[in-house]
Amino acid sequence: MDWWSNSAIYQVYPRSFQDTNGDGEGDLVGVISRLTYLKSLGIDAIWLSPFYLSPNNDGGYDVQDPRAVDPRFGSMEDAVNLIKAAHKSDLRIIVDLVPNHFSTEHKWFKAALQSLPGSLERSRFHFYDGRGESGEIPPNNWCSIFGGPAWSRVKEVDGKPGQWYLHLFNSTQADLNWENTEVKEDFEKTLRFWLDKGVDGFRIDVAHGMFKESGLPDVRSSWIEKIFGKNNLTRMLSPEHKPFWDQEGVHDIYRSWRKILDSYDGDRMAVAEAWVSPASRIAKYVRSDELQNSFNFEMLTTLWKADQIREKINNSISALAEVGAPTSWVFNNHDVVRSVDRLDLGLTNHGDTTFSRHGDVNKLDIARGTLRAKSATLMALALPGGTYLYQGEELGLPEVRDIPEDRLTDPRWKMSNYKDRGRDGCRVPIPWKSASDGAFGFSSNENLTLQQAWLPPSSWWGKYSAESQESDPNSTLNVYRKALAIRKNEPGLGDGAMEWIDAPSQVVAFRRGEDFACYINFGSEIELPSNSEVLHSSAPLNGNHLPTDTAVWLRVSK
Ligand code: BGC
Repeated sequence: MDWWSNSAIYQVYPRSFQDTNGDGEGDLVGVISRLTYLKSLGIDAIWLSPFYLSPNNDGGYDVQDPRAVDPRFGSMEDAVNLIKAAHKSDLRIIVDLVPNHFSTEHKWFKAALQSLPGSLERSRFHFYDGRGESGEIPPNNWCSIFGGPAWSRVKEVDGKPGQWYLHLFNSTQADLNWENTEVKEDFEKTLRFWLDKGVDGFRIDVAHGMFKESGLPDVRSSWIEKIFGKNNLTRMLSPEHKPFWDQEGVHDIYRSWRKILDSYDGDRMAVAEAWVSPASRIAKYVRSDELQNSFNFEMLTTLWKADQIREKINNSISALAEVGAPTSWVFNNHDVVRSVDRLDLGLTNHGDTTFSRHGDVNKLDIARGTLRAKSATLMALALPGGTYLYQGEELGLPEVRDIPEDRLTDPRWKMSNYKDRGRDGCRVPIPWKSASDGAFGFSSNENLTLQQAWLPPSSWWGKYSAESQESDPNSTLNVYRKALAIRKNEPGLGDGAMEWIDAPSQVVAFRRGEDFACYINFGSEIELPSNSEVLHSSAPLNGNHLPTDTAVWLRVSK
């Protein structure tokens, strides 16, 4: 079976993982220094968020040179050492590929600014004349996902206001024109560059972007509010026709990339970050001659309700069954409010303000959210397919809500006109130690204060540290470790069939393999089946009863 069908893949956000040069930002050597910890979790692979040369206006997703390492993260030698060291520890490495846009600091964009309208240099991006008498109105009505118009006007070399360029994200992330063969060739070069360095795969950023409908038509005015009214990433999921997402052209790219991946030894793969709906559209990205895997984002938009979760599981599995691809489960990543908060407050990632996206902090019950997040872990690890985990999820980190406004870095903050604090709250550096030195052990520089870390951890962060959780068998960290260890040796888990078990409506219960069962209780306490032996639970059980917001793994006899 292909490795990604079963794997637990751990996302490292390098800037917040481990700082080894004392500058308050994580680095690649820091990831190497934590491989023992990662191995101890029982994961199979690491996905590294971008560490490429970048002005870092959007957490490195604004790439200036995809084949160079940003000095803030170290050197190319560090990257190669990390790949080698991970392989030595039997961990695979996936890296990000960001094909929808380049930073406006990329040499191509700079050349475009120095060139005339209609030039070859401009044809690598989407440069158009504006509408209106003097071209003062953007070429169409598209808006940026982060807020505001998706177009910025440039000054021509003569100093006069000139053409507009498209940026579906930040104004410093210029969309590439995938009709241009140089763009295609450059990305093939990047794929080969990292494959030659030994990576096992790629996470394809905005995998449903790249191609735009020909002529770049306006979004129908009746849909503008629906599509752009809520400026957030999950609006990308709304089913309205969008002339900039999910165009047929992307599939030709993936067919050509698949050939490249297959031409290398080992099992190289790519996973699509494709926010498309309905689920049947995702299946297209993982047809047998396209990408091998796609994130399944269903659980990022779910309420903590048994019927909704059951439906999302059914949809996810049946959508991909058609094309024979495995599904994968995602409860957290660097773009969404952490699951502890989300599952407690019933957040579905919709909304365009801090309040609508992050919920009402006064109603937040972190203890309950933690119970739910731990149950979600046991559920995800027991469902068919692979799982993507995000750093800090294994520590049960909640969202950090008290980062001072002047320290927020997410472009969404500014582009939403300061209405949405954005995604920094899930990107705060990992607390390794309980004492605050070196920002809770994030930095090797013990004198580094909390304020000196690139995003300041709060004073209460230490209680979530890996150190403080080591010795507690019920800590989130140890629940994770035990779950991953059981999963590895349990023949029924990983990819394969599942069978629903008849259970009260507030309980989600399913069987895997011959005799493995997972029960998640969303309602009041229930009695466990009499013919069962407990293998693991997300929190202590009450005798033979499964408490509310708790999940259990059982060995059942028929
Ligand atoms: C990444 C985001 C990023 C965006 C633009 C997303 O899908 O995960 O962090 O802001 O793409 O590159």
